[in-house]
Amino acid sequence: MDLYEYQARELFRSHGVPVLGGAIATTPQEAEAAAQRLLDGGAELLVVKAQVKTGGRGKAGGVKLARSAEEARGRAEDILGMDIKGHTVRTVLISEGADIDQEYYFSILLDRAERQYLAMCSREGGVDIETLAKERPEALARIGIDPLEGLTPQVAQRIVQAAGFAPGPIADQVATVITQLWEVFTTEDATLVEVNPLVLADDGRILALDGKVTLDDNSRFRHPEHEALVDAAADDPLEARAKAAGLNYVRLEGEVGVLGNGAGLVMSTLDVVAAAGQEHGGMRPANFLDLGGGSSVEVMATGLEVVASDPQVRAILVNVFGGITSCDTIAQGIVSAVETLGGLPKPIVVRLDGNNAEAGHAILARAAIEGVTMAQTMDGAADAVTAIAEKQPAAAGTADAEGAATGAPSRTATPTAPTAAQEA
Ligand SMILES: Nc1ncnc2c1ncn2[C@@H]1O[C@H](COP(=O)(O)OP(=O)(O)OP(=O)(O)O)[C@@H](O)[C@H]1O
Ligand SMILES: [Mg+2]
Repeated sequence: MDLYEYQARELFRSHGVPVLGGAIATTPQEAEAAAQRLLDGGAELLVVKAQVKTGGRGKAGGVKLARSAEEARGRAEDILGMDIKGHTVRTVLISEGADIDQEYYFSILLDRAERQYLAMCSREGGVDIETLAKERPEALARIGIDPLEGLTPQVAQRIVQAAGFAPGPIADQVATVITQLWEVFTTEDATLVEVNPLVLADDGRILALDGKVTLDDNSRFRHPEHEALVDAAADDPLEARAKAAGLNYVRLEGEVGVLGNGAGLVMSTLDVVAAAGQEHGGMRPANFLDLGGGSSVEVMATGLEVVASDPQVRAILVNVFGGITSCDTIAQGIVSAVETLGGLPKPIVVRLDGNNAEAGHAILARAAIEGVTMAQTMDGAADAVTAIAEKQPAAAGTADAEGAATGAPSRTATPTAPTAAQEA
């Protein structure tokens, strides 16, 4: 789960990482009130910052300075509702502003390939770390962190030295903040903690002015308190609905809906659909959906409804190899979904094999639903479904649908650092 900057900041604060005061607002009025409170508390400069789970907010005009509550209100008016890389800004953070002397960069991330953590640090932070990583990789220090040793104060010293900080009080302060960020990383079970910029303010303080944190969802059971960080509104509504129904669903970018049982079968179904699509107008799979083993009529029906309600989907392939799941249950699920939906919303191709396949075929033959095509083999099914999809008109408002798909909380935006790591 990716966090918003204001959530990352709260985590930072709770682990002693120095951050500035701030409050969130969803309307210009709230922004003005929050700004007034900060000014009353002694702040001289304010920053209004778009809260979206993507990078490049500053460049997109989503980070603006203000010196009065009225000005903060105006900036909030400009920023709220703004579209940043497909993310609509619904919340702004009104933060105390810092007088910045230097901007640095620091991040820690999980380096799966090396089976360790990776710390990156640079004295040249700010908005364009990706460019720096590409053009002058020597300015970005990379230090592998042994997970058993951890990021000790000694390792922190090594990191700041490698980044080119001259020994002295600033280097020491940065090293201290680095160990505090490591504490955030480990105790919160994060896979990414990135601060860009980490600044030296002109009063000599080191401050985290921005924060990107990705929490490891696999550790959710250890952190009941993280439940409060979940932002249901930002989830892709289809993914949220599938999750609520206990389905393993991932939205992709194509036009052919896919349902199957077992992750392996569904993955290979995506491959054969993509391959068959090359002969049929470039049709591609629209989603991954694993019904799981032993799925019920209800699960099948919900799965079909979820996949069909994706506006990008033009045709659907149901590919089931009956094992624990029996094919008659799947067929019954299709019939049941068609009843609930009052008809078949999109043409489907069904390939049933294995346990009770004949009974499944019989149920579908009896129901005689218009728009259902039976296929015998996986390749035949992929060929049929992509041919059908190619002939269907693109859904009205496909451009919107595409926006919605890319606007879904995406991993692409988050770790500027990992991208940098791979590119350099
Ligand atoms: N509290 C603050 N006080 C003064 N300047 C700030 C403050 N917060 C941000 N800035 C300035 O704005 C720039 C951009 O802010 P920030 O890093 O939060 O957004 P961003 O990097 O553009 O967005 P993203 O991290 O999503 O790419 C910073 O590099 C810094 O110069
Ligand atoms: Mg930043």
